[in-house]
Amino acid sequence: MARAGLVAGNWKMHGNLIRNQELLASIVSGTQSLQNVSCAVCVPYPYLAQAQLVLGGTHVEWGGQNVSQHHQGAYTGEISAGMLADFGCRYVIVGHSERRTLYGEGNKVVAEKFCSAQERLLVPILCVGETLAQREANDTEQVIAMQLDAVIDFAGIDAIRQSVIAYEPVWAIGTGKTATPQQAQDVHAFIRNRIASHNDEIAADIQIIYGGSVKADNASELFAMADIDGGLIGGASLVASEFISICFAAQG
Ligand code: PGA
Repeated sequence: MARAGLVAGNWKMHGNLIRNQELLASIVSGTQSLQNVSCAVCVPYPYLAQAQLVLGGTHVEWGGQNVSQHHQGAYTGEISAGMLADFGCRYVIVGHSERRTLYGEGNKVVAEKFCSAQERLLVPILCVGETLAQREANDTEQVIAMQLDAVIDFAGIDAIRQSVIAYEPVWAIGTGKTATPQQAQDVHAFIRNRIASHNDEIAADIQIIYGGSVKADNASELFAMADIDGGLIGGASLVASEFISICFAAQG
């Protein structure tokens, strides 16, 4: 990997106070000697205070899994970027396919959330990815381009500098079906080239991470690809030993 790596856990709607405590402590101690790779966990909102308490002052960072596009107001049930920043978050996932599919978040809302996060100095982890039907119809690049361009057009290319892109093929999320390293690499290269068409330097520096059934036993071959800078890890981030191994796999 040409760039420093990032491995981020996406806990989704999993966890409880007791289990989290153990998991977070194990991740901190197990990744103590990790070098040149950042390690983060994106936890459910109610556990941000716990993450801050356990991870504060350690090398492990934390973040949210979603954020409102608004900063305040009558938006029952929503959480603003400022609130995430209050709890020490560095990252927030935006545009995860589960948000897009289950909660109807379109490209415009995702772009607004991306900007909202940056306005409070959070680093958005922007998720893009195609469904199986889109891949089979040979529409992968077109779909990814639309998802990416929506954010570049709205936020401006300079904003991309302070973000992470996560390529997550929808058909690989939680299914046990991982993209082959070459399939993932091809899309990562496509994303990097598209960014390079605006700005070469940003394209060379930006972390593009892969998500979708990454496990300890397939992480190394994925992270060995030239344009894959780490991973966004769902299921395997809930098991300390798996997650720690994946972090070390990103070290090369
Ligand atoms: P998975 O999820 O690792 O369980 O496939 C990845 C994600 O949804 O971010």
